[in-house]
Amino acid sequence: MSKSDKFWDKTAEKYSRKPVPDEEKYRQKLSETQEFLSADMHILEFGCGTGTTAIYHSPYVQRIEAIDISENMIEIGRKKAEAAGISNLTFSRATLEEYKADSSSLDAVLGLNVIHLVPNRKELIAEVARILKPGGIFISSTGCLGDSYFRFLRFFIPFLKPLGIVPDIFIFSEAELTTEIKNAGFSIERQWHYGPQNIEVFIIAKKC
Ligand SMILES: C[S@@+](CC[C@H](N)C(=O)[O-])C[C@H]1O[C@@H](n2cnc3c(N)ncnc32)[C@H](O)[C@@H]1O
Repeated sequence: MSKSDKFWDKTAEKYSRKPVPDEEKYRQKLSETQEFLSADMHILEFGCGTGTTAIYHSPYVQRIEAIDISENMIEIGRKKAEAAGISNLTFSRATLEEYKADSSSLDAVLGLNVIHLVPNRKELIAEVARILKPGGIFISSTGCLGDSYFRFLRFFIPFLKPLGIVPDIFIFSEAELTTEIKNAGFSIERQWHYGPQNIEVFIIAKKC
């Protein structure tokens, strides 16, 4: 288990009780995502946390696979899905690379509040492109700290991480992220930002 898994395992219980920071924007993301979903779709969410979003989307698709590096996060997700009687949602402990979905096998991939936590962002986006069908949808919501005052966090993270106060956090701008998504073979269908200094960026991209 890496230091990052430990951070999220320790945080899981508290995370599951924390209210969504901006309910209105969360609802907007859910409804814009659902515009791109349909009942015959097979979709995957990586970094699913405790499965809240996957549970909301489950009635709109045929099947959802939800993966996360934290066993504690997905255990809470499993219990919530079971309590809600949801049968088309499965949880597994894995990164996207470890999960090794078949090429061109998925209709949509979601990565919400997670891309800023992965060290190998370009490889991750390339993997999303590999596993999506042509025309498949990549939906992401990402803290892009690179253009904000929060970019100075990069000087503090090396000291805070060993204390278990913050997880691995990678700092990049919205422009860098969108360029990487386009370079991986996507067209951007929706893009808007919100939050303090507009650091949260919601993107719906389509595999060309
Ligand atoms: C901020 S939480 C977001 C959870 C959920 N997507 C949401 O929006 O509420 C980040 C999640 O990403 C997971 N995570 C961190 N690094 C990851 C990685 N490399 N691969 C997959 N999941 C990861 C953590 O375990 C945690 O559950």
